[in-house]
Amino acid sequence: MKRREFLKTAAAAGAGLSVLPSGFWSRGPAAFGQQTPPAPGTPRAEATLRQAAGDRMLIGAAIGARSLDRPGLASLIAEQFSCVTAENEMKPISLQRVQGTFTFQQADRIVAFAKDHNMQVIGHNLCWHSQAPRWLFQNDGGQPLGREAALANLKAHIDTVVKHYKGKVKGWDVVNEAINDGAEPYLRNTPARRAIGDDFVVKAFEFAHDADPDAELYYNDYGIDVGTKRDRALRLLRQIKQAGVRIDGVGIQGHWRLGSPSLEEIDRGIKAFVDEQLKVMITEMDIDVLPRSGQGADINATERQGGDPYRAGLPDDVQRALADRYGALFTMFTRYPQITRVTLWGVSDGNSWLNNFPVGGRTNYPLLFDRQLRPKPAFSAVIRALQASR
Ligand code: GLA
Repeated sequence: MKRREFLKTAAAAGAGLSVLPSGFWSRGPAAFGQQTPPAPGTPRAEATLRQAAGDRMLIGAAIGARSLDRPGLASLIAEQFSCVTAENEMKPISLQRVQGTFTFQQADRIVAFAKDHNMQVIGHNLCWHSQAPRWLFQNDGGQPLGREAALANLKAHIDTVVKHYKGKVKGWDVVNEAINDGAEPYLRNTPARRAIGDDFVVKAFEFAHDADPDAELYYNDYGIDVGTKRDRALRLLRQIKQAGVRIDGVGIQGHWRLGSPSLEEIDRGIKAFVDEQLKVMITEMDIDVLPRSGQGADINATERQGGDPYRAGLPDDVQRALADRYGALFTMFTRYPQITRVTLWGVSDGNSWLNNFPVGGRTNYPLLFDRQLRPKPAFSAVIRALQASR
């Protein structure tokens, strides 16, 4: 198994999640004899995230199909979130590992769960350089296919997948992470780009719109809220619009760290995309509290070493700083009616990919629920921010 696939599998599998009875949130822990007592200082918030957000925005989580086999986790997801993104199950490698053989079962489970619980589904993703089968854009020797063959493969994939979920998926991350982190060229040098050319992005949007004219279509990437990547993202978005194909929104992944980027930088990034008359979504939010040397969220940019300072628990001051940052970010989000969705990349700290990225086997605390599925101070900070804005 390749390292990046291992990371995904590990993240999807989760670790050590306890099971809460269905209805835990609506009835409160007392109804269950305090079998899972709240941590000291745990808020007794009546509201759930989806209640606090109301009609203002969707509040989502990335979930794996395996989450649905854990009754406590599944009921927590249904009660707290108004939309879900499949963490891995809709990626090209999951849906069409073998050319012409589509495997929808796991993704279909997530879609059925969402329907049963009145949640929206976001499709993630149709075209990405990671977790994609090689045959899409390359021959057996790793050489790029010819443009026409590569376009035919891309179209066949998008067409089949988007039509399968027509009317069930609200919107698609059509292209994920096409922008280069490093120097020129401004688009990442991927198999799709080598086979098709820079317009593979426009073509993917065109194919998606043809397959489901009612679905919203998004460009999704990390780090595009700041610096050079923001400028490159604006350039790409304008090219897509100039080509005359449908694009509804931009997804800022939001894999942020405790200390960076600054709130001001993130705010400038959001404003830049709002000014392009696009919907803006925070699509993969988490906040890394651990030290690392690199920036960004390129899942292949692993690091061999890094401290693991909070194995025994998160100190109070860091817990507070995390809650403050979540609260401040959500307060910022609520100022923009154009922000139509915020999705967390996972539900609880125990099943976050950040326990294994960029360094494997650490203990991270990036989400709103702890390893026992209890709400963290960051959860109540988010609830307060959402409620204050209503
Ligand atoms: C990227 C992808 C996601 C997910 C995360 C980390 O941001 O868009 O699908 O793989 O990396 O797990």
